[in-house]
Amino acid sequence: MEEISVPAMTLSRPPIDGAARAPRDLRAWVDAVERIGQLRRITEEVSRNEEMGAITYMAHQEINAPALLFENIKDTPRGFRALWNPLGSSVDRFAVAIGEPVGLGVMELVRRCKTKLMSPIPPVLVESEGAPVNENHLYDDKVDVRGFPAARHWAGDGGEYIGTCDAIITRDPDGGWLNVGTYRQMVQGKNQVGLYLSPGKDARLHIERYWSRNEPCEVVCCWGIDPALFIAASQTFPKTVSELDYVGGLKGAPVEMVKAERTSLLYPAHVEIAVEGVIAPNSQKLEGPFGEFTGYYGRPEDLAFLVDVKAVHHRDDPILTHALMADYPANECALLYSVARSARIWNDLERLGVPGIKGVYAHPAAAGGFAMTVVSLEQRYAGHASQALALTAQCPGGAYFSKWIVAVDEDVDPSNTNQVIWAMSTRCNPIEDIDILRQTWSTWLDPTQNPPEERPYGSKALINACMEHRYIKQFSKRTKIRRSVYESVAARWAQLGFKGRPPALWALED
Ligand SMILES: Cc1cc2nc3c(=O)[nH]c(=O)nc-3n(C[C@H](O)[C@H](O)[C@H](O)COP(=O)(O)O)c2cc1C
Repeated sequence: MEEISVPAMTLSRPPIDGAARAPRDLRAWVDAVERIGQLRRITEEVSRNEEMGAITYMAHQEINAPALLFENIKDTPRGFRALWNPLGSSVDRFAVAIGEPVGLGVMELVRRCKTKLMSPIPPVLVESEGAPVNENHLYDDKVDVRGFPAARHWAGDGGEYIGTCDAIITRDPDGGWLNVGTYRQMVQGKNQVGLYLSPGKDARLHIERYWSRNEPCEVVCCWGIDPALFIAASQTFPKTVSELDYVGGLKGAPVEMVKAERTSLLYPAHVEIAVEGVIAPNSQKLEGPFGEFTGYYGRPEDLAFLVDVKAVHHRDDPILTHALMADYPANECALLYSVARSARIWNDLERLGVPGIKGVYAHPAAAGGFAMTVVSLEQRYAGHASQALALTAQCPGGAYFSKWIVAVDEDVDPSNTNQVIWAMSTRCNPIEDIDILRQTWSTWLDPTQNPPEERPYGSKALINACMEHRYIKQFSKRTKIRRSVYESVAARWAQLGFKGRPPALWALED
C-alpha cells in the first residue's frame, strides 16, 4: 500500500460541542428534526423496488412534508434503515443542518448560508479507533454492498441505486486536495458499483487524469451522510479547493477524518457508511437510466465508471440516505439548491467585485433548482445589470445547467415568484432585454436536446427585468406603501384580525 499523505491536516482531538453548533452527525440531525415534527418514521414493511420511491413522491407532493425514515425494509438486514429526502422542501431542516434557528425566511437563510460559506474550516485527522463509522468492517472477498437498502427509485431505473444523497471523495492527482461530490451510484454486483459523472465534474476530471497516466483512481463513497456534508458536496466550488473545508464552515467545526485502510484516502469519522474502492484504467460498465432531477429519465443506458469495492466500513444499524429526483416539491435537489446554490452564486459575484447585489435565488421548481437564477441588484452604473446577468450565468457556483437568468431591481425579492413575474412583465422589453449565451456547460440529462450526445452543450437566456438604466430617472414610479404606514399597520396586524406575521415587503416609500 502507498504511503498515506495527508496535506494540511494535523492529528487533533475532536472539538468540544458548542451550543450554536450544527448537529455533529446524521443521527444528531435526525433527533433534532424529529423534535420539531419534521421526521416521519415508517415501521410498516416496504419494498426496495419502487415502493420507497413512490411513498416519498406521494408524501412530498406537499411543501414542508417531513423527511421519511424507513425502518422495516424487505430483503434488508434487521436494523438497516433508509432516510429519504432529508432536506425535502423544508427551510427549517436546512437551517438545523447548518446550526441556524428554525422559522427563518428563505432569503434570510440564503444570507446566513452565504456567510458560513465565506468562512471555511479545514478538516482534522482523528484516531481511527473509536470512530463511529468504524464499528463494522468488510474487506476484500467478504465485501457485499447488496445488504444496504439500495432502491429502484422509479419504474424505468436501470438498477438499484445505493448512492444518491452521498459524498464521493477523490484526490486531485496533481494538487493532492480531496474533492467531495454528490454523484449517483448504481449497484453492479456484490463488490461493484457504477459511478455516473457528468462532463466537467471534478471527480470525472480526476479519473480522466489518472487514466491518462495509466493509473487507477482511488475513491471513497460515503452513503449515509449528514445534510451539511450533502449540502457542500452538491455545490460547485472552484476546482482547486476541497469541499471538506466548506462543510466545516457550514457546521462551524472541522470535519473529523480518519485514514482509510485499503486506499491512501481519508473518510469522515461520523458518516454512516464509507466504502473504499478503485476505478481501474478504462473500467466502465453500462449504467442507468435513472429518474433524474429534471423529472425525466436522464440519458439512456450507457457506460459509466465502475468502482471495485475493496473495503466497507459502517456504523451499527446504518442509515442509508436517498435523494428522490423528481418534479418539485418531491425533488431533494430543489430547496437544497435554492438556498446553497444561491449562496454560492452570491459569494462568487461578491468575490468578482460586482457591487450592489441584494439577493440571489435559484428557483426550486426549475429542474431541482438548477435551471433558473434570479439576481436582485441596485443598479449603480450603465451596464451593471448586464454584467451581473453574464457573471451569474457563468460563475463557478451557477454555470452548470442554468437556462434562465433574470436580473431584477433591489425593490424585488428574488424569491417571490409573483414579484419576479411582475418585474419581467413591466420592466423587460424582450426585443431589447434578452440575450442568449451559446455552447454553455450542460449535461447529458437535459431532455430538450436530441440526440442525447448533443446535451453537454447548452444555452442560456439572460433576461434583464430591471428598469431601463438609460432612463431610470424617468421610469414610471412604482406604487409603494410609505414605510411609516407599513410599520404602524404591521404593529397592529394581529389587532386588525390577521393571523401570522405581516408580509415582509422589499418595496417601501421612504
Ligand atoms: C441529489 C443529487 C444527486 C446528484 N447526482 C449527480 C450525478 O449523478 N452525477 C453528477 O455529475 N452530478 C450529480 N449531482 C450534481 C453534483 O453533485 C454537483 O454538480 C456538484 O457540484 C459536483 O461536485 P464537483 O463540483 O466537485 O464536481 C447531484 C446533485 C444532487 C443534489
